[in-house]
Amino acid sequence: MKKILDIITAKMEQAFVDAGYEASFGRVTVSNRPDLCEYQCNGALSAAKQYKCAPIAIANAVAEKLDKSDFSMCDAVMPGFINLKLSDTFLQTYLEEMRTATDFGVEKIGEGQTIVVDYGGANVAKPLHIGHLRPAIIGEALKRLHKFFGYHTIGDIHLGDWGLQMGLIIAELQERQPELPYFDENYTGEYPETAPFTLSDLEEIYPTASSKKSDPVFAEKAHTATFELQQGRRGYRAIWQHIMNISLPDLKRIYDTLDVHYEKWLGESDADPYIPDMVADLKQRGLAVLSEGAWVVPVAEESDKKEVPPMILVKSDGSAIYATTDLATILQRMQDWAPDKMLYVTDKRQNLHFEQVFRAAKKSSIIKAETQMEHVGHGTMNGADGKPFKTRDGGVLRLETLIGDMTDFVRAKVVENKIVDDSEVEATTAKIALAALKYGDLSNQPTKDYNFDMERFAAFEGNTGPYILYTIVRVKSILAKYGAHEHLPMQVPANIYAKDLMLAITKVGPALESALKTSCPNLICAYIYELAGAVNKFYHETRILTEEDKALQAGYISLIALAKNILETCIHILGFSAPEKM
Ligand code: ARG
Repeated sequence: MKKILDIITAKMEQAFVDAGYEASFGRVTVSNRPDLCEYQCNGALSAAKQYKCAPIAIANAVAEKLDKSDFSMCDAVMPGFINLKLSDTFLQTYLEEMRTATDFGVEKIGEGQTIVVDYGGANVAKPLHIGHLRPAIIGEALKRLHKFFGYHTIGDIHLGDWGLQMGLIIAELQERQPELPYFDENYTGEYPETAPFTLSDLEEIYPTASSKKSDPVFAEKAHTATFELQQGRRGYRAIWQHIMNISLPDLKRIYDTLDVHYEKWLGESDADPYIPDMVADLKQRGLAVLSEGAWVVPVAEESDKKEVPPMILVKSDGSAIYATTDLATILQRMQDWAPDKMLYVTDKRQNLHFEQVFRAAKKSSIIKAETQMEHVGHGTMNGADGKPFKTRDGGVLRLETLIGDMTDFVRAKVVENKIVDDSEVEATTAKIALAALKYGDLSNQPTKDYNFDMERFAAFEGNTGPYILYTIVRVKSILAKYGAHEHLPMQVPANIYAKDLMLAITKVGPALESALKTSCPNLICAYIYELAGAVNKFYHETRILTEEDKALQAGYISLIALAKNILETCIHILGFSAPEKM
């Protein structure tokens, strides 16, 4: 469906032309004085400079010419604004079309295109910590947003499964159990099917090993183990496989509680086979050059305002690094999926890393000239006091603990207010807690830091996830009381609250599209907060279930049902859902 702004801008442009002015002055915007009008055109003010006459004279002439069939008001006011209100009939027709169209008639601008969203970035064998919350939540929302617009979406977690942490675990395990067959280089038999450690062992082994990094002898062992693992040493590969088998289900379990799901569970290890040929090729084409013993890809550009150092491809000790893996991953993605776009969600401190990798990918034609590469660098989530989030003993807080704390907090409310029967407490709690956590995050612009404030995020009032859920649940309960409503057509609104609600409904497409184009899920939050506000205002000011005029009542029901569907679609994009009761 055409956007309302485009429809009325086209009419206004025609009016400018009919009045003898250039069409380009006819741009209409949403009113910044909702008390006066719904839309406005300020074009007469700019036209006045070009045509050297009074803006109000132009505004008057244009208003005179405007085709007013879609408007209930068209006023030229001093100094030269044209204020507009839409007619009820126009809105009714527009909403009826939205109601009956797929996805509210929002244009599927991503159809035929493929996007890879690289988000999450969990590291195998290390528990997820609070730093993993934002990339998971933001990435999932951006992926779902692209999917809504028709893109073929591939979410890839890009596991950290190939680095030093693996070598550290191997080295530590060898110190503890040197008799295991994995360490015997002459062993040619099958390795045991079950791992010589459990998940909780692993959760102890890794930090212990990591704390020994400062011991040069141990560090050397860990580096050697990492190197040999990457070279394919059989016993180490077997340990690696054990670690993966134990660690992945646990990662999946936690991502599941966050309703974050990946199409691909690939990792750095999967990029590894692409590295040797890629490096050889870059060297051969002279794109990689030697610099102090390392092979680097210079990526500085003339227009750079600050220095962009070369991307290191191979370190002087012959090892590949983070950037090498990312470049090889791009190669794999292009070969396997030929995406039109790749979007990465990580901490914004990785900005430079991605800038270098993207440039190297372009320079070496690993991507096409038109392949879009975007890094969404997010800010930090701090504690309620604005300071970095720490556990009581100064450690990093586990993601699971954070989710658990939020869940406990919400459960207490659910129980205290007797919101649902005992048997539904857990399911309802989980939904509200997830909404609190995700909306609390996503309502902030991704690049900004924010403070985690459990009480505020979980409040049922204010700009929060639970408030949105509450609005949906309220409408669901009215609809349930009313009965079948799926086929009720739109009606001309009978009060101003209905009109405000109708106007808010029409803005879903533009809001989602802006969120898509700027990679800012917070714009979806801002939109649904406005829409939920309009729903609640309408609900408070209007007798719905007791309305005696049945046709009018049917119109009201149809209106709130549409608003509810939009709210539910939007929260689905944000990555959470509403309970039946609240
Ligand atoms: N594992 C990385 C980390 O912990 C994040 C990976 C992000 N994605 C990527 N393609 N580099 O920092």
